[in-house]
Amino acid sequence: MLIRPRILASFLASVLLLAGTAAQAESLQELIETCDACHGKKGVSEVEGMPSIAAQPDIFLQYQLVFIRDGARKVEAMEDIAKKLSDEDIRALGAYYARQRPPPALRGGPKVDVAKVKQLIEPRKCNSCHKEDYSGQGETARLAGQRPEYLVKALSDFRAGVRRGRGMGAMMEVSITLHDQDMEMIAAYLAAKP
Ligand code: HEC
Ligand code: HEC
Repeated sequence: MLIRPRILASFLASVLLLAGTAAQAESLQELIETCDACHGKKGVSEVEGMPSIAAQPDIFLQYQLVFIRDGARKVEAMEDIAKKLSDEDIRALGAYYARQRPPPALRGGPKVDVAKVKQLIEPRKCNSCHKEDYSGQGETARLAGQRPEYLVKALSDFRAGVRRGRGMGAMMEVSITLHDQDMEMIAAYLAAKP
């Protein structure tokens, strides 16, 4: 797998300064610029390990921002900015990113054995919550077009029980029996979905 933590760390350090300034932002536009500095223009990430947030369901976005702000979900990179967000900011950010264009399907990723992936996801009914096209709904995340290395991280965090959230029970249950290799296959499959 291709996670390069040092690259991500130095990238994060360079945007932290920006995050610090914009944390006192007054306008939604200024906040969005700060978010986009990490999450990519209009929420479409161009950085390894950084999730795209464009076209995530509004409710999912709001929940995650509240969890991150309140520390239930630990995201160190976002600590400073998250604690300054008002409920009103969170509602506005949820609405804004939910209506952006979804991230494009990943091209040129590893070849996916769809039959094998289906053997993993069908018994676990991923689509019953995340929707048939994996666009997400309500408190449930969009997975289609998400960065594969981030999907692997999210799944391993649920498996290890370190990520808290609305769906943590269900997500622990489906991930506990997945091997690292299974997660990578599932992630490659979902990332390549339009
Ligand atoms: C300094 C970089 C940085 C900034 C600035 C930042 N984020 Fe994040 N954000 C991250 C990282 C890194 C993660 C992934 C955490 C993980 O691996 O679990 C994340 C996760 C998220 C998630 C959860 C995504 C998911 O799919 O689970 C949401 C929602 C989010 N950020 C929204 C925002 C918003 C809105 C802003 C602006 C107010 C913002 N972020 C600013 C780095 C940043
Ligand atoms: C019973 C409903 C349910 C099922 C079944 C389910 N999920 Fe989830 N999933 C959720 C919910 C709800 C969340 C949001 C969790 C949170 O609040 O942190 C989530 C979050 C995720 C995330 C994190 C996304 C992000 O952007 O942070 C991934 C990845 C994921 N699910 C993959 C899967 C896969 C793969 C399967 C099948 C193996 C699956 N899920 C089955 C409900 C479900």
